[in-house]
Formats: sequence, structure tokens, C-alpha cells
Amino acid sequence: MSKLRLGVLVSGGGSNLQSIIDHCNSGYLPAEVAIVISSKEGVYALERAKRHNISYAVVDPKKFPTKEAYEDELIKLLKSSNVGLVVLAGFLKVLSPHFVNAFQDKIMNIHPSLIPAFCGEGFYGERVHKAVLDYGVKITGVTVHFVDEGTDTGPIILQRAVPVLDDDTPEILAQRVLKEEHKIYPEAIKLFAQGRLQIHGRKVKIVKGEEN
Ligand code: GAR
Repeated sequence: MSKLRLGVLVSGGGSNLQSIIDHCNSGYLPAEVAIVISSKEGVYALERAKRHNISYAVVDPKKFPTKEAYEDELIKLLKSSNVGLVVLAGFLKVLSPHFVNAFQDKIMNIHPSLIPAFCGEGFYGERVHKAVLDYGVKITGVTVHFVDEGTDTGPIILQRAVPVLDDDTPEILAQRVLKEEHKIYPEAIKLFAQGRLQIHGRKVKIVKGEEN
């Protein structure tokens, strides 16, 4: 069976990208990273792509006259890399229906909270963890979901809880959550690669595979 080709979109450090690369290399994931696209120059995620000889590009939205022109460039690069799944990994741009329609049900995102809490516009990266601590919740977590036209509103694939501890700072909590992200994202991508995810409206059904 041919491997699923992933297009990974990043804007930062790329620790999730690294986890995906490692899980491809170990054989856990029947997939390969075909291209990494960053919305910013100089981010560490690009170093990770270079180190693993993965094709990469920087597509800076500021350099395009419209959002549609920007997204057309992303679509062109991803399609010419024969990508079967677009993986948002710390990608901080919100994609419009124009992009979402080009990869219908083939875009995944990871968000560092238990959606629908602490998500939506303005909730990204450390801001999420700060909001979690300010609110005083005792449990937060990670969500992997398919991307639809909204922000963090698409059908949920997997979620995992992470405890919030008394002395947490946003940085400490972010690290605890990231540890879980690095496990759950490969799991979700593997289910997709195995054809085991069925979308029924808002719900994602995980169908049995050969392993269980
Ligand atoms: C991760 O925590 C990811 O969940 C979050 O950005 C971080 C990127 O880390 N994404 C969002 O907040 C999206 N709304 P990484 O670059 O080390 O993978």
C-alpha cells in the first residue's frame, strides 16, 4: 500500500511536526511528510524540515494582495506535492472556505484545549493556557479535529485530558499539554491513513481496524 502523503503547515517551533516525522520514520505512521509550509520566515520548524531533507516553502500571507491569492499558492504547492492530508501543526492563520473546499474532509488541526472550551478566534498557543489558568479549571487537554469553515469548530476526532496543577504557569502547562499532543496527533493521522475515520455530521466515528 502506498504511503499517505502529508502536507504540514506550521508557524513556529514545530514540535508537533517533529513528532509526526519521528512517527513516520519509526514505521508507526504509514505516511510521509511530503512538504512543510511555513507562514513565517526563520521559524525552527523549517530547520526540522531541512534536517530531515523534507521539501519546504515559506508562504507569507503579507506578500499576497488577497487571502484568496495566498491560499491559491498554498493549494498549488500542496496539490503539486500530491498531498492526501493537510496537517495544521501550530499554524496560526485561519483558513477560509476557499482553502477548506479544496481539501474537503482532508484537513486536520490540533488545538491545545478541550474544545469547545478555550478555542476560537484569538485562542492560540500560550494564550490558551493563560486563559485556562485565569479561569481556574482543573482539567484541560488536547483536541484533534477536522477543519471546517469555522475556527476550531470542525468534527472532533480525538481528545485527551491533561490535569491543571496549582503551581502551573502557562509555560509549564504548555509543556504538559504538548507531551500529550505529540502522542495524540500521530494517533489521529494513523486512523485517517488506515481509512478508519467516518464523518457523520458533527460526529467522527472510528471504525474497527485489523488491530482491534
Ligand atoms: C501547539 O500547542 C498547538 O496545539 C498550538 O500551537 C502549538 C504549536 O507548537 N496550536 C494552536 O494553538 C492552534 N489554535 P509546535 O509548533 O511546537 O507544534
